[in-house]
Amino acid sequence: MPDTQPLHELLAQRWSPRDYDPRAIDPAVLRSLFEAARSSFSCFNEQPWRFVVATKAEPEDYALILDTLVPFNQNWAKNAWLVGLSFGKKTFAKNGNPNRYNLHDTGAALADLAVQATAHGLYVHGMGGYDAEKARTTLGIPEDYEVGCAFTIGYLADGIEMPPRQRNPLTDQFLRPGWTTSPLVSD
Ligand SMILES: Cc1cc2nc3c(=O)[nH]c(=O)nc-3n(C[C@H](O)[C@H](O)[C@H](O)COP(=O)(O)O)c2cc1C
Repeated sequence: MPDTQPLHELLAQRWSPRDYDPRAIDPAVLRSLFEAARSSFSCFNEQPWRFVVATKAEPEDYALILDTLVPFNQNWAKNAWLVGLSFGKKTFAKNGNPNRYNLHDTGAALADLAVQATAHGLYVHGMGGYDAEKARTTLGIPEDYEVGCAFTIGYLADGIEMPPRQRNPLTDQFLRPGWTTSPLVSD
């Protein structure tokens, strides 16, 4: 992907590793990641996100969350200090109407958390490979919430390098009305 303008280093350095060092994250640092998610934008400021999280310091909770992942993901996620699942509230608290933006906003909150994680030398890895039914029953999820994605947070194992980034061209992603490439990205 040719770089038009350099990315901010917090975005440039973010990637999703599968090789974690299981060492502990300072609780105050972890808290700052949660604050980043909390500060995210959302439709009507609903803040529909919920995160069920556990670190290796809570081994029973950690095992319950890890067990909701598909075996491939469990295999590498088990080294991360924190495992979690995101959920979105399906209806607006103020009037009970469906909130079709709930997982949009939950994903945005996790993205903000990932930026804050990068600032602390930590790595977040999202996962769609989980068993939603198992998550719902074993984690006690209320009816009005749907699963977004699973994720890990932790330090990178020694000697692991960021792989080359593979991305589709901007011309595929930024369009004008009529679904053709926007002049803002064509050369
Ligand atoms: C919603 C979502 C689901 C994903 N599911 C998985 C998964 O189940 N297992 C996995 O190893 N990676 C998973 N990933 C990681 C993506 O493959 C990764 O983000 C993508 O290849 C881009 O790489 P990067 O994050 O390192 O830039 C998922 C990412 C997201 C955002």
